[in-house]
Amino acid sequence: MSAIRFLLVVALGASVHGAINVPKPRQLPPDFDPSTLPTYNGTGPTMLRFGCNQLSIDRIDPLVNPGAVPSTHQHQIVGGDAFDASMPLSDIAALSQCTTCSYSADFSNYWTSNLYFRARNGSYKRVPQFPGRFQPFFGNNTFASTINGGMLVYYVSPGQNQLTSFAPGFRMFFGDASLRAPPDEPPHWQQNLSTQTCFRCYNAPDFGGDDFRPCLDPRVDTMHLPTGPCYGIRSNVLFPTCWDGVTLDTADHKSHVAYPVEGPHIFDGIGTAEVCPPSHPVKIPQVMLEINWDTTAFNNPEDWPEDGSQPFVLSTGDGTGYSQHADYVFGWRGDSLKVGMEAGCAGADCPGMATQGMGPADGCAVGELAGESYDGSNAHR
Ligand SMILES: *[C@@H]1O[C@H](CO)[C@@H](O)[C@H](O)[C@H]1NC(C)=O
Ligand SMILES: *[C@@H]1O[C@H](CO)[C@@H](O)[C@H](O)[C@H]1NC(C)=O
Ligand SMILES: *[C@@H]1O[C@H](CO)[C@@H](O)[C@H](O)[C@H]1NC(C)=O
Ligand SMILES: *[C@@H]1O[C@H](CO)[C@@H](O)[C@H](O)[C@H]1NC(C)=O
Repeated sequence: MSAIRFLLVVALGASVHGAINVPKPRQLPPDFDPSTLPTYNGTGPTMLRFGCNQLSIDRIDPLVNPGAVPSTHQHQIVGGDAFDASMPLSDIAALSQCTTCSYSADFSNYWTSNLYFRARNGSYKRVPQFPGRFQPFFGNNTFASTINGGMLVYYVSPGQNQLTSFAPGFRMFFGDASLRAPPDEPPHWQQNLSTQTCFRCYNAPDFGGDDFRPCLDPRVDTMHLPTGPCYGIRSNVLFPTCWDGVTLDTADHKSHVAYPVEGPHIFDGIGTAEVCPPSHPVKIPQVMLEINWDTTAFNNPEDWPEDGSQPFVLSTGDGTGYSQHADYVFGWRGDSLKVGMEAGCAGADCPGMATQGMGPADGCAVGELAGESYDGSNAHR
């Protein structure tokens, strides 16, 4: 698309406010001062940041609809190849042969909804994903910036000996697939939902506008899907950082974890919970997922809805974006995550942690179970 055409599209988008609810105002990002960037030099906080290729795209969900083929909606999944329509509450690292993540001891599974474009004529097309931004200060992130589909995964620890790692069999769910508006009276754990799920609308090519921490920059971040065209849309989801310390899973996949009552409930790359609620006293690493959707092929204003609303739809059937959600099944081999969280390093080449190249990761896949088209018109659910 030419620059002039994109400007027209942006102008159109900026004048448009469809039926989408505007979220409550939230804190402004701190002024960016590079000298405040933490150093990850072995003594302090750890921020793992690594890429995971697509493992599969399928209409199954072992947490929310165990055993159901197909499940209620489509997902895109990364991680170990033990992923299945139902998964045992056990050590899935032991059941996996390979992983799509660059840290080769991480057989966890991470999955989210897919994003679709709904054209004016009613046809649907799955929005492809593009790799993560190359961040030179996070070591060798060649893998993260060349992934094929998939997502970036972050794990944050505020410092040595300050966290308990997850236990084999642990799993959790973030979000609410039925949400279509900001919750009026959110349960306690959701009070800061806008800092825990957001869409970043890149405002220029090459990750334009990606200047601040995720979900904290009102210039580019919204809880709802962006209302105008973007140079790609980024999804971020932040899981809770407090655990009851015992329960591997609950019926809602949420009650055994909680957000802190004090301390960062946001992503700041150096801190996690300072004070966990008494019901959930155990501090766990902060897990954040990041997915880049390449919407640039879908910015033709002639294909957008005539009423001026935006055309993107999550695979939940949600055109607002509030149903953004994610699932996590812990699957690091042995104590490899704990080793990583204590290492005080950043990125994807942390001492003591084994990595693999793109070759083996690309060769790791799980066959599709639901066996339905996920790219075309009849894929959307
Ligand atoms: C590591 O970084 C911390 C600040 O995060 C600093 O106080 C300390 O001196 C650094 N240590 C080394 C060995 O560079
Ligand atoms: C609907 O519109 C899309 C986008 O312009 C186009 O690619 C597709 O071929 C159209 N489908 C039909 C059935 O006309
Ligand atoms: C939610 O975020 C706001 C703004 O950062 C903060 O003032 C408030 O204490 C947070 N609430 C909870 C329950 O953490
Ligand atoms: C950086 O990572 C890539 C992919 O994981 C790998 O192929 C390459 O050898 C690494 N480069 C260095 C200098 O370690």
